Amino acid sequence: MTQTELSSQAQAEIGQARTLDELEAIRLKYLGRKGEITRQLMGLRDLDPSERKSVGAALNQAKGAIGEALEARKRTLQDAALDAALAAQAVDVTLPGRAEFAGSLHPLTLVRERIETIFAGAGFGVAEGPEIEDDFHNFEALNFPPEHPARAMHDTFWMADGQRLLRTHTSPVQIRVLRQAEPPVRIIAPGRVYRCDSDRTHSPMFNQIEGLYIDREVSFADLRHDLIAFLSAFFEREVALRLRPSYFPFTEPSAEFDIAFEGTGEWMEVGGCGMVHPNVLRATGVDPQAWRGYAFGLGIDRLAMLYYGIDDLRLFFDNDLRFLRQFAH
Ligand code: FA5
Repeated sequence: MTQTELSSQAQAEIGQARTLDELEAIRLKYLGRKGEITRQLMGLRDLDPSERKSVGAALNQAKGAIGEALEARKRTLQDAALDAALAAQAVDVTLPGRAEFAGSLHPLTLVRERIETIFAGAGFGVAEGPEIEDDFHNFEALNFPPEHPARAMHDTFWMADGQRLLRTHTSPVQIRVLRQAEPPVRIIAPGRVYRCDSDRTHSPMFNQIEGLYIDREVSFADLRHDLIAFLSAFFEREVALRLRPSYFPFTEPSAEFDIAFEGTGEWMEVGGCGMVHPNVLRATGVDPQAWRGYAFGLGIDRLAMLYYGIDDLRLFFDNDLRFLRQFAH
């Protein structure tokens, strides 16, 4: 192969090189220490002196041409790589924006915070207790004797160990608070509670808020007054409250209370209440001769249904964003 043919063959290969690595391989093949052009340049000394000059000139010309072609191709490949990188990072500022939903608090959280604010204004602190309870706090200390039929009113989820349970109401927080704090005590305790229940107004997991007020002189009239004051503040209107005599082992006397669905004449039960039973005070080391008090337990979800005018409580737990976004503000 003549030097000219060698040069054109190398330039054809260079023109087809697609990457810098391929290009480097071609450079080595022709111009590297063991490359074809280098090899022939070394062979010059074996040539006849008459040929040496012209062959040498042709080889040098081929070497120069290949070197230039390599440089030119290298720049082209580098430019293309840069263009590709820039194109990949390009931002099309003419595209329409994509709105991000910022998220919002769950309606039940909004209602719970609203309740807490109203009670805070009346001097109630906020207490908490565990969702996994034991028989003592959930039943026994609340004056549910073993085997007492009132236990059956709570369809309890028991743990496999038969000892622990998912609390069926927030009333065990009364026990936890009274065993720690010295009266007077004025707290609310919001939280999740669990019962084997499910329909339009019952969910297996729901939210209650407990209220407990212990002092020297507390009467049922205080309880009634405070409930009406709270509910009127909550609904921002005069609320019609209906108290019905009822039974809870931990209060005596006991009542359930309902409020009217506005405009329908229908009532919805929202809570239970009563005067704290002396046995509960005794179980927590509080002297029933010196102290008395009231307690109540409200269904937060029920209040939220009334507040937002929603007729199926299970909607709150379906996590349907189309429903939940209506409460964003
Ligand atoms: C109790 O749970 C008592 N601990 C309340 C109480 C506290 C009485 C302190 C006296 C003193 P009851 O089982 O009635 O009571 O439930 C109270 C409220 O929780 C009900 O009025 C209702 O508003 C709500 N509730 C009960 N079960 C469900 C449920 N499955 N889903 C949603 N709300 C419920």
